[in-house]
Amino acid sequence: MDAGLERVVAAETVLSDVDGEAGRLVIRGYEIESLAGAMAFEEVVHLLWDGFFEGLPAARDMRAALGRARAQVFARLPSIAAGPGAVEALRIGLAHIADNDDLETALCLAAAGPVITAAIVRASQNLPPIAPDPNSSQAMDFLRMLNGVAPAAAEAAALDAYLVTVADHGLNASTFAARVAASTQAGLTSAVVAGLSALKGPLHGGAPGPVLDMFDAIGAPENAESWIANALARGERLMGFGHRVYRVRDPRADALKAAIEKLPKTAGRLAFAEAIERTALKRLAARQPARRLDTNVEFYTALLLEALRIPRPAFTCVFACGRIAGWIAHAREQQATGRIVRPRSIYCGPAPRAAA
Ligand code: SDX
Repeated sequence: MDAGLERVVAAETVLSDVDGEAGRLVIRGYEIESLAGAMAFEEVVHLLWDGFFEGLPAARDMRAALGRARAQVFARLPSIAAGPGAVEALRIGLAHIADNDDLETALCLAAAGPVITAAIVRASQNLPPIAPDPNSSQAMDFLRMLNGVAPAAAEAAALDAYLVTVADHGLNASTFAARVAASTQAGLTSAVVAGLSALKGPLHGGAPGPVLDMFDAIGAPENAESWIANALARGERLMGFGHRVYRVRDPRADALKAAIEKLPKTAGRLAFAEAIERTALKRLAARQPARRLDTNVEFYTALLLEALRIPRPAFTCVFACGRIAGWIAHAREQQATGRIVRPRSIYCGPAPRAAA
């Protein structure tokens, strides 16, 4: 049995390759470093969906297609309940989208992430949602719908680089969940809601918020050594470190760091984070000499989303705004196999017995 499936190859995919030993992420043949900051998120959506949908617009027309889809989603936006958490509210909002397998459904799902997440954050501030601008990019429109003012170009570029960086990443837990749902011939909405439900956990996409909680708890660089030693001694995991596949530094960490460095007034916070990172890596190496635990994507994700003034509870929703593109592509790829995902299990319960 392989409880975490780490030695199981469960799919053949044309979408992305995660080389954990080399620290390489390739999406449809492009190294992530050549995509983030160079190819717009809308073009990466096209790259991932190419071949999976009849009538897919050309890459240069994806921005307009997603802009129209944002307007469509907003026109049908359900009233956003302020009660549940942000991920729960996003899950409710996505569930309103018809559970089909066509391009319109895919575009609405990809557009819904920014529209619904911005509305959720504003509802939590007792503010009404702001209508999308169909002529804008996903990143720029999200920040405008969130804050009520157009973002600086550098901020929109940083968010765009983030969305590209997290768009797809092999058979991670949330993508696998999306593929399992799609394998039963449930629709794309079901696959995306399954992916979002798996993403929520702090071991996966729920990690960025707790990274900042750790920064808050440490307070100042001189406290890092003792705080981290005590946390590890308590058996706690350091959020933003370790990975099931990467045995070296996650290549996305530096892609995100480069995006943060282009934002104004981030040097001090970056220096603080780098001090914590150095101490954490040293302490993790000492505690787990046989297992390389390096910085993963979430450590600098936390700093980037904080720099964009996105509220911490919405971090996982913003992760989903990027990863939805990958979930949808994988769902279509799984559907094309025509095979339901159904592994076996070893029974270790009571022996057969008669009901009393
Ligand atoms: C993402 O899979 C993907 O591709 C995911 C992702 C994507 O793009 O989709 O890359 C996004 O989810 C990144 C990971 C975000 N999560 C975190 O940052 C949470 C902290 N990290 C972990 O909990 C952990 O590293 C995992 C969950 C990411 C991976 O865990 P594994 O592969 O199951 O490793 P493990 O639990 O078997 O750990 C091996 C040892 C254990 O020690 P022992 O219990 O054997 O003594 O290493 C220890 C762990 O306790 N360990 C850590 C640690 N991560 C592992 N110890 C302290 N801090 C950590 N972060």
